[in-house]
Amino acid sequence: SAQLNDLAVRAGLKYFGTALGEGTINSDSQYAAILSDKSMFGQLVPENGMKWDSTEPSRGQFNYNQGDISANTAKKNGQGLRCHALVWYSQLPSWVSQGSWNKQTLTSVMETHINNVMGHYKGQCYAWDVINETISDSGGWRDSVFLRTFGTDYFPLSFNLAKKADPNTKLYYNDYNLEYNAAKTDYAVDLVKIVQAAGAPIDGVGFQGHLIVGSTPSRANLATTLKRFTALGVEVAYTELDIRHASLPASSQASVTQGNDYANVVGSCVDVDGCIGVTVWGFTDKHSWIPGTFPGEGDAMIYDSNYNRKPAWTSISSVL
Ligand code: XIL
Repeated sequence: SAQLNDLAVRAGLKYFGTALGEGTINSDSQYAAILSDKSMFGQLVPENGMKWDSTEPSRGQFNYNQGDISANTAKKNGQGLRCHALVWYSQLPSWVSQGSWNKQTLTSVMETHINNVMGHYKGQCYAWDVINETISDSGGWRDSVFLRTFGTDYFPLSFNLAKKADPNTKLYYNDYNLEYNAAKTDYAVDLVKIVQAAGAPIDGVGFQGHLIVGSTPSRANLATTLKRFTALGVEVAYTELDIRHASLPASSQASVTQGNDYANVVGSCVDVDGCIGVTVWGFTDKHSWIPGTFPGEGDAMIYDSNYNRKPAWTSISSVL
């Protein structure tokens, strides 16, 4: 039977993709086999390997060993690549976050970083997450060394630097909890407008999609939210989709609800012109960042820990 990327492309999306766990691909052959099947995953994104602490752990010392795992795997399998992430408050080495900068010196640090990392992957990334998680959970701009130094001017600055470093990749702002169409979403709309008003290039908004079983918005409401952004002339994508159970073990009824939630998210992307693809943040309950970050929660993925397809897999296929 057809796999999810093939179905997604037939439904008009560019891809159905997954994050690649750099620590997992070489240690779990079942994981590697599913991840490498292009009919299942048409696109990869490194879970950690292209972040600042991985690519420039100390100033001017660049390292691409981890990021290249995703780039080389995608190349070998004929898969696309999303690239993640350039300017982010987290997984940011302390030489940046604790440095004492002014606008000029921090601009130079950002320019060097962006030029090197985007230069290394030039021509390989369908899109780059240029700024990641820049809005607080209840609205307002998220505190960071970038905000403290520049105010919101670092939004257009980051996009302008990225455009110069690689003019042929899509430039995204990426964040979580935009799906609920509340204060954070309003700020995200403002962010796009701020960048556009400054004359800087922004091509897309990434909806991370770290959602909760039973609390995921309906397909229609999700589509309405996506359209707030496509109305501004940018594309949208679900970039880190996982839907976790808030308590474990999950009942079989809860697994069905999880499947419906996944179908609503993927279905909303199919429904919106300008929603170009869906990426899951891992695909098996055997390997996921969720339990480490949300203790007691989990089983958020579309395969169980024995690599059996869950109801979520089938529910997604039914809307593609
Ligand atoms: C997570 C990874 O999955 C973990 O392995 C890592 O320890 C922390 O970061 N939003 C993002 C992703 O943009 O980069 C995060 O990935 C998950 C939340």
